[in-house]
Amino acid sequence: MSGPGLFSPLRLGAHTARNRIGFAAISTRFAREGLVTDRLIAHLVRRAEGGAGIVVTEAMVAAPSAAEPVRAYAFDPRNDAMFRRMADAVQGAGALLVGQLWHGGSARLTGRAPRAVGVSPVPDGMSWTVPHVLSGAEIEALVEDYAASAARLARAGFAGVEISAAHGFLPLQFLSPASNRRADEWGGDVAGRTRFVRALVRAVRARAGAGLLVGLKLPAEDGVPGGIDAAEAERITGAIVADAPPDYLCYSQGNHGWSLFRHAPDMHSPPAPYLHLTRRMRAAAGGVAVAAIGRLGNPEDAARALAEGAADLVMLGRPLLADARWPELARAGRAADIRPCIACNYCWGEINRGAPVGCSVNARLGREDELAGPPSPPPARAGAAPARHIVVVGAGPAGLAAAAGAARRGARVTLFAPGATLGGAARLHARLPGCGDIARALDWQERQVVAAGVTIRRNQRASAAAVLALRPDAVVLATGATPAAIEGLESDVAVPDLRALAARLLDRPERIDGTAVIFDHDHTPMTYDAALLLARMAARVVILTPRESVARDMSILVAQAVQHRLAAAGIAIEPCALPRAFFGGRLSFAHALTGRVGEIADVALLVAATPRIANDALAAPFCAAGIPVSLVGDAWAPRSMLWAVREGHEAAEALVPATGG
Ligand SMILES: Cc1cc2nc3c(=O)[nH]c(=O)nc-3n(C[C@H](O)[C@H](O)[C@H](O)COP(=O)(O)O)c2cc1C
Ligand code: SF4
Repeated sequence: MSGPGLFSPLRLGAHTARNRIGFAAISTRFAREGLVTDRLIAHLVRRAEGGAGIVVTEAMVAAPSAAEPVRAYAFDPRNDAMFRRMADAVQGAGALLVGQLWHGGSARLTGRAPRAVGVSPVPDGMSWTVPHVLSGAEIEALVEDYAASAARLARAGFAGVEISAAHGFLPLQFLSPASNRRADEWGGDVAGRTRFVRALVRAVRARAGAGLLVGLKLPAEDGVPGGIDAAEAERITGAIVADAPPDYLCYSQGNHGWSLFRHAPDMHSPPAPYLHLTRRMRAAAGGVAVAAIGRLGNPEDAARALAEGAADLVMLGRPLLADARWPELARAGRAADIRPCIACNYCWGEINRGAPVGCSVNARLGREDELAGPPSPPPARAGAAPARHIVVVGAGPAGLAAAAGAARRGARVTLFAPGATLGGAARLHARLPGCGDIARALDWQERQVVAAGVTIRRNQRASAAAVLALRPDAVVLATGATPAAIEGLESDVAVPDLRALAARLLDRPERIDGTAVIFDHDHTPMTYDAALLLARMAARVVILTPRESVARDMSILVAQAVQHRLAAAGIAIEPCALPRAFFGGRLSFAHALTGRVGEIADVALLVAATPRIANDALAAPFCAAGIPVSLVGDAWAPRSMLWAVREGHEAAEALVPATGG
C-alpha cells in the first residue's frame, strides 16, 4: 500500500485537482430542449461543494447530428452564458469542471432511430437501428464538431473535456471490431479503429489549446462477442497513448446490447468489480493517469484502489448522487455518515423514462436545497406553542424518512415500529441473495432517526386508539401494503405469498424436492431476488407470468441484470401464463392469448408474487378525529423505495414547515 491518498492533489494537464475524487458523468434530464438549466448547474455545484476535486458534466451533445433535446448541447451557442455560469460556479466551489462530449452514433435504447449516423451498417445491439454510414468527409466534419464544442467549453472557462468513448456510443462503435467493419482508413486494424478517437483528442487539443485538459472514457471490456476484451483494450490504449495521449483515462464496461447492465453494476455485483481491469489498463497507459470507476462507494475501497496502485484517481457516479458530501465526510473520517448508494439503479430508470434523475436514498437529489441543513426551529420562548407532535406509523424507508425529517425540523416525533428492528419489509429484501446494500441504507436511516431524537416504540403495531391517545398534531401512515390472492386459481392448498415464504426460508432453509413455481404478477426486483433464494433450495424453479416476459416493471438496464441472473440460476420462464388449477401437485395454466392449457406435474411448491394493496385503513379514524394524515410510500400505493423515501421526506416538510416546531 504505497500509492497516493484520496486527498492528495493531482496534476492533470495545466490544472491541479484538489483531490483524487471525481464526480463521474451522470445524465440527469435537467436540460431542456438542449439548453442548460439552473437546475443542472446547481446539481453540479452541489457535488463541488460536497468536496469532489473534479466534476464531470453529464454527456453533452458534441455535434448537431447527435442532438437529443433531453441532453445539453455542447455545440450550441445559446448555451454560452450558462456554460460560463456553470464553470464559474463549479470552479468557484473548488472543483475542476470537465464537460463530457458525447455522440450516440447508432446507439438507442428502444425504437429504431430514423436519423442515426454510424460507422458501419451493423444493427445497434439494443434498438437494432441500422445507421446511415458516415463517409470519410462526414467523419472529418464530425471531428471538427467535437473540436468546436471543446473550444466553446474552453472559452466558457471549463478546465477540461472528457470524450465519451465507452458504453457503446459512436467512438466505441469505431473502436470495436464488432461494430466497425470499414475497409477505409477509419477501420480495419487497431490503428484504423482508433483513428477517430485519436483524431478527436488531437483536434480538441489543437482547437481548444493547452489550457484544456482532455479525459477519455474507454471500455476495458465491452462484453460483446468479437468486440473489445481486455487484451484488445490494452492494444487500443497503447495505440491512443502513443499518438494522442489524453490527460486521464477512465475505463467503464459494457456496450449497447446484452452487456448494457455492465455500465452500472448493481447491488448483486461485488464492490469495485472492475478494479482488476483498471489495474491492467494502467499498466498499458504509458504513464497517463487512470481513473477507477464502478461501485467504489465505500471510502475504504476507493482509497485502496489508489493505495494499491490500481488507479491514480477515482470517479464516483452513483455514490455522489446518493450523497454529494461523500468526499467531505470521507475526509473528515465520517464514513458512517455517508448516505450509502445501494446500487439499485432506479436513478437510471428515472432518466430512462424521461423523468429528472431521482434516487432511492437521497430524496432531495436535484433540488437547490439538497445540501442545506434543516431549518432552525424558532428559539424557545416563554408561552410559545410547544413543538408539534407527529406520530409516524410504520418504520420502513418511508416512515424512517418522515420521522427523521420531521424531528430534524424541530417536531416531537413518535415512531411506531411493528418489529424490533427498523426497516420494514425492506429488511427482508436486504436479506435476500445479493441485496445486502439495502441493509446499509436502512442502517443509515435508523442512525438518522436515533440521532434526531425520535421516540421509537418498537414491537408495537399501532392501533388507532393508541395513536389518538398520544394526541398527535398530525399522523404519517407508512404502513406498507399487503399482497392480494391469485385471481382465478382453484387450489386444494393455500398458496403462500413469496415474501412470507422467503422470510421462512431465510430463517430455516429447506430442501424442496420437485419444482417450485412462482406466479409473478409483480415484476419488481424483490420477486427475482427471492427466486434466486428458491433456486438454491429447489430442484427446479419456474416463473409463470401473465406478461410476455418477466421484469417488465423496471428499466431495461435493471431488467437485463435480472434476466442474466435468472438465466445463470437455471430458472425457467413460462410467459403469458394464467394459473387456473393446482391440485395434488399438478398446476395447470392457460395461455393468456390463445387459451391453450399447459401443465407442470411435479410442483412441490406454488408461491404468489401478486399485486400489493395499500394498508391505508388506519387513515379513516384520524380523519374522523380531524387530525391531518399523510399516506406515504406503499401505504399510498405500492411502488419502489425511491417513492417511499421521497414521500416520507416530503410529508415531513409539509407537516413541519420551515418555521420549525
Ligand atoms: C443514471 C445514470 C446516468 C449516467 N449517465 C452517464 C453519462 O451521461 N455519461 C457517462 O459516461 N456515463 C454515465 N453513466 C455511467 C456512470 O458515469 C458510471 O460509469 C457508472 O454509473 C459506474 O460508476 P458508479 O458505480 O460510480 O456509479 C450513468 C450512470 C447512471 C447510473
Ligand atoms: S437510485 Fe439507487 S443506484 Fe442510483 S444513486 Fe440512488 S441508491 Fe444509488
